[in-house]
Formats: sequence, structure tokens, C-alpha cells
Amino acid sequence: MNAENQNNLDDEFNDDALNAYADRSKRRPRKTGRHPKQISASNYDFVQKQDDTRTTFNFTYQAARFEEWWLLETLGAFYEHQWIADVLRKVKVGKEASVYLCKSGVGVDEPLLAAKIYRPSSLRSLKNVQEYRLGRLDLDADGHKLWKRADIKAAAKRTAYGEEVRHTSWIAYEYQTMEALFAAGADLPKVYAKEKNAILMQFVGDLESTAPILNSVSLDADEAQALFARMIFNIDLMLAHGCIHGDLSAYNILYWNGALKIIDFPQIVLPESNPSAWKFFQRDVMRVCQYFFAQGVDCDAGKIAADLWTSHGYRTFKQLDPKYLDADDPEDRRAWQER
Ligand SMILES: Nc1ncnc2c1ncn2[C@@H]1O[C@H](COP(=O)(O)OP(=O)(O)O)[C@@H](O)[C@H]1O
Ligand SMILES: [Mg+2]
Repeated sequence: MNAENQNNLDDEFNDDALNAYADRSKRRPRKTGRHPKQISASNYDFVQKQDDTRTTFNFTYQAARFEEWWLLETLGAFYEHQWIADVLRKVKVGKEASVYLCKSGVGVDEPLLAAKIYRPSSLRSLKNVQEYRLGRLDLDADGHKLWKRADIKAAAKRTAYGEEVRHTSWIAYEYQTMEALFAAGADLPKVYAKEKNAILMQFVGDLESTAPILNSVSLDADEAQALFARMIFNIDLMLAHGCIHGDLSAYNILYWNGALKIIDFPQIVLPESNPSAWKFFQRDVMRVCQYFFAQGVDCDAGKIAADLWTSHGYRTFKQLDPKYLDADDPEDRRAWQER
């Protein structure tokens, strides 16, 4: 890596949010997503030495100084549990997260995995986060609905601890949704494990190249028609499983070996309980249709959205159920008053 690149990477990771996060998280990462295999003695060495040296997990990817610390902190537990054996390269710095290509640990049924690591400030970078959260009960790190009153209050009051609770819930929604939809037969990467700030999933691509986003791909007419039908199948399947993607477009669909994989699920919207669900659903369908229309597919987004939506028994006007609102949350109170 040349000096200029190194400096750029240092800048990228040398921000105040990351430093504040580093101070808060001196403790060891949580241990979830256990690999069925035993942890070997050499990995116990890693656990013991990590806090002193932080160099035992040497990876191929040449990370900048802050980035290296960040990778050890977020991916250390995946290594410890033998989900990954190496970090090979950085794939992409996205809106909220950075994605790295990892070599899988022994016994994992995929040779390569993608580690999606959230930036500490990721929640703040999404506009109107609250609108997605409406009707969603926050989840804890194990994917259970929050039950401690203190956590619920902190999340509503948006204290510093409450922001952490929300962040954890955001990631838990992405993991849980991907797991459920994959099991239901939807086209998305299989997820393997989750840590406090990262998700490990099937890598779409190969050692040399990453699957392009669909938006950068030109399809011939027959393929466009077939893939469009497959996307409508996926949108319908998601709705049948009580979920709207919420940020679906050709930017969050990967194209590889003639097939599609939908990614980026943390903001999923619940059709039953989010008052803006119909609006989000229409937007998802419209953006997908926009891409396929440009590829020569004759599609009427409004009609497709309305047909799918009503076929699942939903109504095309705002619905708001007080059972999903928190009386202590000013934003929830405002939504109720504005209904
Ligand atoms: N499983 C994966 N396999 C290959 N590339 C991926 C995978 N997941 C994400 N990416 C790459 O990382 C980028 C950002 O991921 P995404 O989940 O969309 O996060 P963001 O919220 O930051 O947009 C994607 O556009 C894609 O290029
Ligand atoms: Mg994305």
C-alpha cells in the first residue's frame, strides 16, 4: 500500500465517533453465534493474548492503524469461534457499514464470507430512522424483544446508552430478518453469525471479484424478464413473511452468475404495524420497476404494488396500532397525534 492510500485510510477511521466508541468498548466483544466446533488451544492463546498484544490475529489485508484496531475489536470473536480464518480485502465502504472479504474457518460450508461491520455513527447517517422503527419493538443482542424497562426507557429517551441499545436492535433486525427470509427461500446471502457490531454472511462473488450491484448491470430482454419475475416473487415472499425491505432498489441487489441476491436489511418495515408501511412498500416496488423498465420490461409499478399489497389483506391507507407505540417516546406520541 502506498503512503497516500495509507493516509486516506487513517483519515477515514480517525474520526471522533470511532474514538469515542473505542473508549467505551474496551471490554471484550460479546460471544454469540458459536461455531459448533471446539475452540482449539491456539485460539485460547489468541483470547488471552489479544488484550495485551492485539497482533495474534494477523490477517492478509493491510489495514490502516485505526482500521486494524477496529477489525480486531469487531471480528476477533468470529476468528476466535473459527467462523473466519483471515481477512483478505476490503470490499466496499457503504452508507452505514464497511464490508470485508474473509476466508472462512475450517468446517464452514462456504469458502468465503462477507463481514459487514457497522460504523459507530451509522444510525445517525440514515435519514428518518424513526419512521422505519415505528411499529417495531426493539431487540436485544440475542434478538429477543427488549424486556428491561431501563433499556426501553433509555432507547426512547435517546441517552448515550439508549443509542447503543437502538444500534444493537438495528443490527439484530438485519440478522434475524435475513435468517428467516433465507429459510423461507428468498434470494439473499445466508447469514452465519452476529456480533455486537458485525454480521457474517455468504460472500457474493469470488476471490478476485465482488458481485456488482444490479444498477451497474445491463441485461438482455429475456434475462431481464426472468429476473424481474424473480424479484416480484421475492417481494411477495417477504410480504408473506411480514416484512417490507424498506430500502429496496437496484443498489441493494447483487448480480452474480445470472442470479440476484438482495442485501441490506436493517431498516425492514413491518407491514402490520408501521403506519407508513404502504408508502414504503410502494417505493420499494417502484424502484425495482424503474430499473427493470429501463431494461425493457413492461411493468406498471402502481398496479403491481397495489395487487401484491391487497392480496395479503393489507389496506392502502395509514394504519397505526397503539400497542406498538411507546407513550414515553415523543416521536411515537407525535405519530399518534398526527394520525
Ligand atoms: N454478502 C455480500 N457479498 C458481497 N458484497 C457485499 C455483500 N454484502 C454487501 N456487499 C457490498 O457492500 C456494499 C454495502 O453493503 P450494504 O449491506 O448495502 O450496506 P450499506 O448500508 O452500507 O449500503 C454493497 O453495495 C455491496 O457492494
Ligand atoms: Mg446498501
